[in-house]
This record gives sequence, structure tokens and C-alpha cells, in this order.
Amino acid sequence: MAGYEKPDFWSIKARKEGYPARSVYKLEEIVAKFGLLKKGSSPGPGILDIGAAPGSWSLWLLKALGGRGRLIAVDIQDLGISPADANFSFLKGSILDEAVRAQLRAAGPYSLVVSDAAPSTTGSRLVDQSRSEELVEAVMGLAVEVLGPGGALVMKIFQGGEEKRLISELKKSFARARGFKPEVCRAESFETYLVAMGFKSQPGVRKMTVPSSP
Ligand SMILES: C[S@@+](CC[C@H](N)C(=O)[O-])C[C@H]1O[C@@H](n2cnc3c(N)ncnc32)[C@H](O)[C@@H]1O
Repeated sequence: MAGYEKPDFWSIKARKEGYPARSVYKLEEIVAKFGLLKKGSSPGPGILDIGAAPGSWSLWLLKALGGRGRLIAVDIQDLGISPADANFSFLKGSILDEAVRAQLRAAGPYSLVVSDAAPSTTGSRLVDQSRSEELVEAVMGLAVEVLGPGGALVMKIFQGGEEKRLISELKKSFARARGFKPEVCRAESFETYLVAMGFKSQPGVRKMTVPSSP
């Protein structure tokens, strides 16, 4: 994993611009490509940032929102940032924990759910992939419960054969869904993102299977 610690162009840019992680430019690319925060398209009622630590995506989203909406961030780890912004709140906990999901539901609905959540890697691609899928299923399950009509979802997944099934699953609840790998992703990384837009709110049939709490 030594290669991951070597600062590259994006890490240096992130440091200069005050972001704790280079991953901010992945979100920037995704938002621009899919027009997720286009001027004129309402960012409210809120955005949910899952797996938010150390906090680059949250910082960037707060700037992009410019006070036009709320941002709720959740992570099992503390954030490395503490923005003094009345529109921002952070919840420390696991997305796999039903009590945490209940609090996030209560703070919704959201127009955008973003998830960069990833398990700590073990070195075994199979194990990492299956943990990532567990997280993704939990994120999908929560997203369909908390998104408002027309809402969008962005989530990270480790590549490994499940993308097609997950995209088909997403297409049941969203008008459009596809995979997208930002150019900022490191060449050796096997992460990619799924982007779903145009949430079709169907009260009563929105629940997906969510893994039980560990
Ligand atoms: C790649 S980092 C996110 C980076 C972040 N987007 C940023 O720009 O600063 C992945 C995060 O997912 C979090 N994570 C992993 N499992 C989680 C879970 N079950 N619930 C919430 N967060 C989780 C990790 O703690 C880690 O902080």
C-alpha cells in the first residue's frame, strides 16, 4: 500500500486547497459530469454524505451548497474538519447500525445521497470486495428510504462482477443508473462509482434488503 501514501498531483492540489483528501476531485468530477448540483436544480432539502471522514467531500459540498441546503455527514471515524456552518451536522456511527440509519432517516429527506464509504482493506481482494458490497447494499437500502422524488445517489464500490446486478437493482428505483470511474482514481485502484438519478418515490415498496447490524 506504500504507493497510496506517495503524494501525487491530486494530493498536493488537495493540500494546497485545504482539503484533507485527494478524493474531493472524484466527487467534483462526478458532480460536473452528471450535473448533480446544477444551478437552477434545487439542492435542497438536504444532502447526506456517507463515509465522510476525513471530510473532503463534506467541505466541498458545503462550498458548493453556499448555504442553500443542509448537509449531514456520517462516519465511524471522527472528521478531520470542523466547519463552523449552521447547515452542517456530523453523526459518528456505522451505516450498518439500525439506530444510526434511523437517525439519518429522521433527518431526511435528501435530494442527494453520496457515499465514499469503504471498508479498511485487508489485502484480500475477495474479502475487501464482499465488505464493500455489504456497505453498498446498506447505502442503497437507506437511500431508497430517505431520498425525495427525483433525488440522486452516488456510491463507491470495489469492482468485481457485482456492478451489473447493482445497476439493475438501482434501475428499479431510479430513472437512470450507471457505473463511472473518475479519472482522478489511481490507475491501480479497483474502486469505481455507481451513479443513479431520478429517484422514483414509491411509498410502501421502497425497502431493499439491508444487512443486519454487526
Ligand atoms: C475513502 S474514506 C472517505 C473519504 C471522504 N469522502 C473524504 O473525501 O474525506 C472512506 C470512509 O468510509 C468510512 N466507513 C467505512 N465503513 C463505514 C460504515 N460502516 N459506516 C460509516 N462509514 C464507514 C471509513 O471510516 C472512511 O472514513
